[in-house]
Amino acid sequence: MQRTAQTALVTGASAGLGTHFARLFAQDGHNLVLVARRQDKLDQLATELRQMYGIHTTVIAADLTDPKAPPHLYEELMRAGIEVEFLVNNAGFGTSGAFAELDLARELDLIELNVKALTHLTGLVLPAMIARRSGRILNVGSLAGFLPGPFMATYYASKAYVINFTEALAYELRGTGVTATVLCPGATATEFAHVAGVENSALFTSSADPASVARYGYRSMLKGKTIAIPGARNKLSAESLRVSPRLVARVLAGHLNKS
Ligand SMILES: NC(=O)c1ccc[n+]([C@@H]2O[C@H](COP(=O)([O-])OP(=O)(O)OC[C@H]3O[C@@H](n4cnc5c(N)ncnc54)[C@H](OP(=O)(O)O)[C@@H]3O)[C@@H](O)[C@H]2O)c1
Repeated sequence: MQRTAQTALVTGASAGLGTHFARLFAQDGHNLVLVARRQDKLDQLATELRQMYGIHTTVIAADLTDPKAPPHLYEELMRAGIEVEFLVNNAGFGTSGAFAELDLARELDLIELNVKALTHLTGLVLPAMIARRSGRILNVGSLAGFLPGPFMATYYASKAYVINFTEALAYELRGTGVTATVLCPGATATEFAHVAGVENSALFTSSADPASVARYGYRSMLKGKTIAIPGARNKLSAESLRVSPRLVARVLAGHLNKS
């Protein structure tokens, strides 16, 4: 039986995990809305996936740290008659250093992107998903969301929000036909470490392959799983963190982030 093409909106599709999510949807025959700031990268990916899989693609270059970006983006989709069946809130970045010494504007942008844009887009697409009793939300959290992270304080806190928000949402959505999944990767080989300035951190000495991390998240989303932690070592870390005293966790994270 031929599957009906549905549309997936992927934020942060110009690099890293986002490009892999886009590929997975395209391979399954789904149409795509690709969002990030770098239009050239999005156009390149869109052309490749259109030619390879015969899907429809829409590229929207947007800076999601601008609070007006999510409603603009959504209006554009409404105008084009595009119904979002899959929302992947993947765009995000980190910063490193002692909070008091960091550029405060950039810290606030981090919250705008990692927390507010994710919440805003979810809030915009959910009512229609619930009304038609069908839809999947995949939010990209992080292992970092399970503990406080000295020297990456805002980033870790933003991911704690993503995990708690998604878990609560998944519970509220039971029986609606809509699911919410949070993917919690550990260190993964993307542009993230460079952007956050943590390439030399002990945490990034061995990074996971982004294609496998995205595949794990994608499959977990399709299964409607609430929390998806890729990799046995990461699962063990998350479990250990659950039973570790907070002091131990923050000392450990502080050491690793400073390394
Ligand atoms: N890599 C890791 O070790 C790791 C571990 C755990 C969780 N994560 C999470 O995984 C997600 C994806 O990150 P990644 O590892 O794939 O990093 P990445 O390679 O740096 O990709 C980040 C994506 O977000 C987009 N983005 C950044 N700022 C944006 C903005 N202001 N507006 C719109 N889009 C923006 C970037 O595109 P443009 O620059 O073109 O805008 C890019 O497409 C993030 O939420 C990150 O926190 C990563």
